[in-house]
Amino acid sequence: MTYSLNFLTKEQVAYIAENYKTPIYVYSEKKLKEAVMAFDTFPSAFWHTTRYAMKANSNLNILTYFRKNGFKIDASSEYEVKRAIASGFEGKDISLSGQELSEDFEWILDTWVFFVATSLLQLETFWKKRPWGILGVRINPWVWKTYFAKVLTWWLTSSFGIWYEYIPQIQEIAKKYDLKITKIHLHIGSENTPESWVNTANIGLDFIKEFKDATILDMGGGMKKAIMPYEKSADLQAIGEAVKEKFIKFYEETGRKIHLELEPWKYAVICAGSFIAKVNDIVDTGKDGYTFVRTNTGMTDMPRVTMYWIQQQIIAPLVQEQEEKDYVVVGHCCESGDILTSKLYDQEIVEPMKLPKLSLWDILVFECTWAYNSSMSMKNYNSFPESAELLIKENEEIVEIRKKEELQEIWRNEKVVL
Ligand SMILES: Cc1ncc(COP(=O)(O)O)c(C=O)c1O
Repeated sequence: MTYSLNFLTKEQVAYIAENYKTPIYVYSEKKLKEAVMAFDTFPSAFWHTTRYAMKANSNLNILTYFRKNGFKIDASSEYEVKRAIASGFEGKDISLSGQELSEDFEWILDTWVFFVATSLLQLETFWKKRPWGILGVRINPWVWKTYFAKVLTWWLTSSFGIWYEYIPQIQEIAKKYDLKITKIHLHIGSENTPESWVNTANIGLDFIKEFKDATILDMGGGMKKAIMPYEKSADLQAIGEAVKEKFIKFYEETGRKIHLELEPWKYAVICAGSFIAKVNDIVDTGKDGYTFVRTNTGMTDMPRVTMYWIQQQIIAPLVQEQEEKDYVVVGHCCESGDILTSKLYDQEIVEPMKLPKLSLWDILVFECTWAYNSSMSMKNYNSFPESAELLIKENEEIVEIRKKEELQEIWRNEKVVL
């Protein structure tokens, strides 16, 4: 099956390929606006706060866009906190739940960032600095292993959050140092169905019962977004309604109105970005093998296939050829994992994709690449410079929001001592 362009027109693809250096990220302001609206109309029992999980795409323009549209921040490191502040957010708008204990913790707390402890050590570090303080805790519940382990962020195989059996220890520490735990944070990983979100709400509310000061349940992100035709997106409204019902029931039973926090960014915005690259070579491994399309991109720009063995739509919009061929599309790194058409959730096997018969320098568009690509890229491997980012504004104007990295910038911090 061949695919069609998402938001770009053929003319825009041709214009960008001619006037900018590929490979290049292209984002759509119109699509970002749709994401903003989807969150604004999310049903919730007692209002909700949407936190932008800035790890999805941390360009200062994107941060500014979401700040101006009233979103708060979910940060995963002290550096994300600093980047969000650099883009104009105030500390009080940021919730930090990171894997790494900040070495600048006092500074972080002085900015009034809301701190969410994700381990007992983090909790201890917090109370030493701020006895009587207010904070949240991220909990890792043991429930079930529903989907592909690579994208799972709870259960036995996950180090995120405090293991649920340690809740008594959390409570003991909170009591001893008079800490107020006002937020329970859960993030159950990617690819969630509506059922798993409703179950998460139940689990989260059960935890809330055990924390008398808790007024917020942050359910994280991870809603399923269909990128390939065989996938089905989560229904945001249906999930919202179901979760709302749980919160209302909880209120009726306990008299506690719980505020909902949300962070589902891949769902909302992954298709607000496309990526333009070029065919760089075509090679094959004989009659029993595959035909490989080498490209001028790969895990240095789009790491998700390498990391998670997912699939994404690839299009050759300007190629006129009627004949189709099966191609395995690969990246430009000298690395066996740098594959752009992987078999779904299987690291062992590549999966060819139908594309019109390609030639050298043909243009390829990779769809739904806004989130977890530019920010997660394995840039500079094989010394490939970081690619530029473009934004197509609402009035169709194309503006560069990050220039391509100069080669010398790659080694700017190295000190030659030999
Ligand atoms: C704590 C937390 N919140 C939210 C998100 C966003 O998830 P997604 O973009 O898949 O909805 C992530 C992603 O890893 C996360 O770790």
